[in-house]
Amino acid sequence: MIQVKNLKKKFKKTEAVKDISFSVNKGEIFGLLGENGAGKTTTLRMLATMLKPTEGTAILGDSDILKDPSGVRKKIGILFGGETGLYDRLTARENITYFAQLNDIDPKMLKTRIVELTKYLSMEEFIDRKVAKLSKGMKQKVAIARSIVHNPSIMLFDEATSGLDISAARTIHDFIHQCKAEGKAVIFSSHSMAEVEKICDRIGIIRRGQLVAIGTVEEFKKRHGMNNLEDTFIKMVGDQS
Ligand SMILES: Nc1ncnc2c1ncn2[C@@H]1O[C@H](COP(=O)(O)OP(=O)(O)OP(=O)(O)O)[C@@H](O)[C@H]1O
Ligand SMILES: [Mg+2]
Repeated sequence: MIQVKNLKKKFKKTEAVKDISFSVNKGEIFGLLGENGAGKTTTLRMLATMLKPTEGTAILGDSDILKDPSGVRKKIGILFGGETGLYDRLTARENITYFAQLNDIDPKMLKTRIVELTKYLSMEEFIDRKVAKLSKGMKQKVAIARSIVHNPSIMLFDEATSGLDISAARTIHDFIHQCKAEGKAVIFSSHSMAEVEKICDRIGIIRRGQLVAIGTVEEFKKRHGMNNLEDTFIKMVGDQS
């Protein structure tokens, strides 16, 4: 479903991503684990066609990020941490509608889809309220609805739970599991080993723009002879000097 091929990104002075390759299957959650500045966001922004690679490419579904960026955008849902990017002055429904229109969704289908999503995420109470008046958790649900309104087969999460309290983070985790159950391919970036260990099927450890290790949680534990992935992670990203 996702094939990343020798992806590189050089900013003026920084080689943020250096020759990264990996693939993610349908129904699989792939964790991109790395410290601050390792290159997670840069990688995901290239996959989301928000940033052009210096070299290499990626195929999402059957669309190449370089040759068919608009095809890629139709297939992906994006949930990036930090600001939700919702418009405060619009209602939840208007926000979702606006993003759906950017994705060329048929207006009739959209109405049904919003009804479905409102129910799925229990947003009945606030779907017609202005986003400015919503709580953080409510806004998060609107952001989730927006990310899947076009029913994408691929989901990209960049530090989607950073700064959230436990119950809000759990909403995101449940949503990710739901995506997996629906057969979507998921990439999930995080610095938290505990989080990645809990939700991902496979993990790639990224250090200074390079994927230094890739495997299942079990494989990591076996390979390093430890019970705890956190120790393994510290061992792998450590000794940077
Ligand atoms: N637009 C940019 N211009 C110049 N350098 C950039 C730009 N975006 C990222 N970088 C640099 O690229 C490197 C990788 O950054 P990136 O944001 O991808 O890391 P990250 O793994 O997402 O880190 P964090 O965990 O802090 O979010 C860093 O050294 C960063 O300073
Ligand atoms: Mg980042």
